[in-house]
Amino acid sequence: MKKIGVATTGGDAPGMNAAIRAIVRIASLRNLQVVGFERGWNGLMKNESKLLTPRSVGGILGLGGTILHTARCPEFTKDEGVRKAAQTLSSNHVDGLVVIGGGGSFKGALDLSRETDALIVAVPATIDNDVYGTDETIGFDTAVNTAVTEIDKIRDTAISHERTFIVEVMGRDRGFLALMAGITSGAEIIIVPEIQYEEQKIFQTLKENSQRGKKSSIIVKAEGVGDARLLAKEIEEKTGAEVRISVLGYAQRGGSPTARSRFLASLFGNKAVELLLEAQGNKVVGLQKGQVSNLSLEKSCKTKKSLDLSLLSLATVLAT
Ligand code: F6P
Repeated sequence: MKKIGVATTGGDAPGMNAAIRAIVRIASLRNLQVVGFERGWNGLMKNESKLLTPRSVGGILGLGGTILHTARCPEFTKDEGVRKAAQTLSSNHVDGLVVIGGGGSFKGALDLSRETDALIVAVPATIDNDVYGTDETIGFDTAVNTAVTEIDKIRDTAISHERTFIVEVMGRDRGFLALMAGITSGAEIIIVPEIQYEEQKIFQTLKENSQRGKKSSIIVKAEGVGDARLLAKEIEEKTGAEVRISVLGYAQRGGSPTARSRFLASLFGNKAVELLLEAQGNKVVGLQKGQVSNLSLEKSCKTKKSLDLSLLSLATVLAT
């Protein structure tokens, strides 16, 4: 193991730069050369990379986004694209590759692992927190805090106008971000893709809240379920409440990473280099029961991470 590559792939997440920084500094200490591939899988397919030294990653710990840039790369789902990436690793004499990204990127990493002798280690970084094998992904805590800050502000105007708000958060087709943001912002109702929500129950909860003197409510809805406009219309018709919608959008993908996201990024980056030095490839680094661990890339890609639905019931009780 003399030279490793690093790439950030798929949707960016706050803390990716902290992970790059950890990988470069630890690898450099262990006399490994590090090259950064630009714009996710594009850089590997087009052989676009730059040398990364401890000085290249100075001042990026608290920077959102990724200094290597990233992109969605549909051509990487084709054999030709994967073969080009494997060729780039070979022609650059890259012995190991650290892929920083989410579940979608890991499927690409798995395809690449079948075409190259380079060892591949994946570091889970996505605001969706939907990667099997880690309790938490880099960027998730930052996105939750961003969402909670915005929902707290929405709560002010909801109270003033005695309105009900449907706040839509990201999370792709999962509810991890909605559940955590909902619980920690005191949302009265949380809607996640993992559970088929019943409109009648929503109307009932809002009516009961109103009878208990709660003249405003916050509904946190994951983007991967339902239609906020339709639901708002139904609620207004069935309960008489005045409803507004707020889609938090891409602010959840940016911002300076929280200490928690930086901490995970530093631990995961360290572990990734460690695994490569131990000649362990096809692995995903993760946090399991508070300990940094790893599992097979294939198992992570093929297993759906479960959502703790008991937290949904807790959220409802806490918001009565
Ligand atoms: O995977 C992260 C994420 O922000 C999802 O929560 C969201 O649905 C998706 O990326 C948006 O994708 P894009 O950045 O390509 O618009």
